[in-house]
Amino acid sequence: MINDIEKVIINEDELSAIVKDLGKRISEDYKDKDLLLVSILKGSVIFMADLMRAISIPCNIDFMAVSSYGSGAKTTGVVKIIKDLDQSIEGKDLLIVEDILDSGKTLNYLREILLARNPASIRICTLFDKPDRREVDVYADYIGSKVPNEFIVGYGLDYDEYYRNLPYIGALKRSVYED
Ligand code: IMP
Ligand code: MG
Repeated sequence: MINDIEKVIINEDELSAIVKDLGKRISEDYKDKDLLLVSILKGSVIFMADLMRAISIPCNIDFMAVSSYGSGAKTTGVVKIIKDLDQSIEGKDLLIVEDILDSGKTLNYLREILLARNPASIRICTLFDKPDRREVDVYADYIGSKVPNEFIVGYGLDYDEYYRNLPYIGALKRSVYED
């Protein structure tokens, strides 16, 4: 697994500092609100687990699973709900917790369908942003870090469902996904 990594992009200490800072900002901004964190499975699972512990105000959590990609590194443009939320979001202050904002298609679609369910508010928190790759107009309210246009894995992010358990963010060797 480690042999497939070209280089470490963000190490464990840097990740921890990024997530703590996001948690502080969110705790401040939502202190008088009814915060519901919605983690988008599976990529945001490690981020979510760390972020919720960096949030010091009362909040609820829920999970949603969508698929926007096939098994590879290229988008198919197809977004499908695989697991929906367990609860009504009416009147809640929703914060969507996503691993990475790439073309923006996934979050654009998610935001639309969740808006139709009448939450009090919706914001987006993404750990990573690849602004150069955007195809639709969608912005995150909280961004952990901008990343270059490279395929990255680890800390929940996968390539073909592997590498999610790497504790740092690494760039995958091109030879792994190009052949
Ligand atoms: P979008 O709809 O193109 O913005 O795709 C977002 C989703 O694509 C993320 O939730 C990830 O699952 C996946 N993705 C995009 N870029 C990467 C990457 O560099 N590494 C791993 N997954 C990625
Ligand atoms: Mg993925």
